[in-house]
Amino acid sequence: MPVESEAPFAHRILRWFDAHARALPWRLPPGEPLPLDDPDWPYRVWLSEIMLQQTTVAAVKPYYAAFLARWPSVVALAGAADSDVMAAWAGLGYYARARNLLACARAVRDQHEGRFPAQEAALRALPGLGAYTAAAVAAIAFGQRAVVVDGNVERVVARHHAVDAPLPGAKPQLRALTDKLTPDHRAGDFAQAMMDLGATICTPRSPACGICPVAADCAGRLDPTGFPVKAPKKARPERQGLVWWMERNGQVWLVRRPETGMLGGMLALPSDDWDGGARVAGLPEGGEEAGSIRHVFTHFGLTLEIRAVEAAPGCTLPEGGQWWPVRKIAQAGLPSLFAKVAAEMLKGRTP
Ligand code: ADE
Repeated sequence: MPVESEAPFAHRILRWFDAHARALPWRLPPGEPLPLDDPDWPYRVWLSEIMLQQTTVAAVKPYYAAFLARWPSVVALAGAADSDVMAAWAGLGYYARARNLLACARAVRDQHEGRFPAQEAALRALPGLGAYTAAAVAAIAFGQRAVVVDGNVERVVARHHAVDAPLPGAKPQLRALTDKLTPDHRAGDFAQAMMDLGATICTPRSPACGICPVAADCAGRLDPTGFPVKAPKKARPERQGLVWWMERNGQVWLVRRPETGMLGGMLALPSDDWDGGARVAGLPEGGEEAGSIRHVFTHFGLTLEIRAVEAAPGCTLPEGGQWWPVRKIAQAGLPSLFAKVAAEMLKGRTP
């Protein structure tokens, strides 16, 4: 038996995972046989992987439980109304994921007889499945050997090999290194082990190298936070906009945003196009200044000035909208940006 540091990398990673895997609602215990005859198993893996993109485990857990309770199978989800799925996704962000989620569920129902394909290439052809998600579902749900690379995996590998090329240019190199490390068996457990190692030990700011199963031959051990090297970040631009709170008889006017673009397909408050300049046709003049909110998106920060309008009968309302009871605004499924506006408007009002 080789001493611990000489056992193959994947072997040490899997042994660590067998003892320390996080128990997560979308996982089997490590090493347990995959339930390959359960058609809902790949659905649950896929749903979790879509939700976990750019989103923390803690934020995903309640949404994952709610989706499975309401839509227990991919065919059930495929039959859902678009507006129900968009509302159920509200607050999770990156709304293109929800639109693709439905498109993918319908493609699986219509083109694959309601069963996810097992091969990485066929998965990659489905809506919303990029290189990461196709590899993750192939490996985790179907036990295929696939090279799964997310931000956690990149960090672990960049440190272990002291990769000095900066991200994002180093991505192909990090993928090639991950390919070499990935075992033929248990590739799904290996991928999840790397993610767990990145989330719990090889963390971005204060890695716990003393308890890391692969520290003995880690080339980045002396300066772990020096890896991965990152290209200098550009400052996040700031944008300004206007948003309208139009109220009549205890109801507020909500609009459905266009399918394409930011927050596409979501129910929203009427707003301009957030460029701080030209007004958009169909939005009311004037209104009372009623405070402001700030929201940070990945690529920009946004301050919205709120205009409160008492919408008299006969006044022009922005097109394609609906009245919604103010006291039920929490059930409208507004994205966080507009939920903040509602909270600002309802501050101090008695329920
Ligand atoms: N992040 C994305 N997918 C994950 C998974 N399967 N386990 C842990 N973290 C993840």
